[in-house]
Amino acid sequence: MIFYFSATGNSKYVAERIAAATDDHLVYLRDAIRSRSYQYDVSYESRIGFVSPTYFFGLPSILHFFLEKLTLTGYKDQYVYLVLTCGASTGDAAGQMAKLLKAKGVTLSAQFGVPMVDNYVPLGKLADREAMDRKLDEAEEYIDEASRAIRSKGIGDYNRCQGMTPGAMTASLYPLYAHGRSTKPFVVTDACISCGLCQELCPCAAITITDGKPVWTKKQCVRCLACLHRCPAEAIHWKKAGENNGRYYNPRVQP
Ligand SMILES: Cc1cc2nc3c(=O)[nH]c(=O)nc-3n(C[C@H](O)[C@H](O)[C@H](O)COP(=O)(O)O)c2cc1C
Repeated sequence: MIFYFSATGNSKYVAERIAAATDDHLVYLRDAIRSRSYQYDVSYESRIGFVSPTYFFGLPSILHFFLEKLTLTGYKDQYVYLVLTCGASTGDAAGQMAKLLKAKGVTLSAQFGVPMVDNYVPLGKLADREAMDRKLDEAEEYIDEASRAIRSKGIGDYNRCQGMTPGAMTASLYPLYAHGRSTKPFVVTDACISCGLCQELCPCAAITITDGKPVWTKKQCVRCLACLHRCPAEAIHWKKAGENNGRYYNPRVQP
């Protein structure tokens, strides 16, 4: 069983590749949360995986939300792993995961990191198409390595993307995400065609369409940027970043 979260396809791609290599099935957190499915029988599972993007050197808040509610019935020390996708560095996101799991009596057996295209456009422009392709090609080696280790239930720290001082990075920057998440910078232009796709895609029901345009609820938004990247009319922007930092969905996976 592999639980995954993904806004722009990188983690979905990785989760699908690992599922194919291990013959496991996928649970998409957005669907699980929508259907309030928090209890899973893992009696017959030999591996339990989590695949997630890295946010501010930590976990997306949706992971915290889901893990706090999650019950794994039939857990008896199976192999549990975490694969973090990132633009460059995961920091100590796995440390957060280990703590959340420990609180449930579950041990994290292994962690992996896969550097992919950085989708955080509030901070800068997306890579150009060639650089993106190169990065996605290079990611294959990381995914293959993770798949092999997961198949053989390799235990330990396989994450080569934690950066120089992972604990310090997470401790200093994650609070900006955990406590400073605002939806005010989202801007909707007149290009909006009121299709409602942003509302449908939003993994945490943070968007409602009001007078034909999206309105964000700060409390719920996890800042995954699915709405911005996947707006078919390119009508959603991040105020300070302007309109030209690009839009991304992993071209190697079906939306
Ligand atoms: C809110 C936010 C914060 C991010 N923070 C980091 C980070 O701390 N380190 C990093 O390397 N990439 C960071 N990224 C980039 C994503 O982790 C990366 O692009 C990831 O592969 C996206 O996964 P997805 O396509 O499955 O949504 C961030 C992206 C977002 C949206």
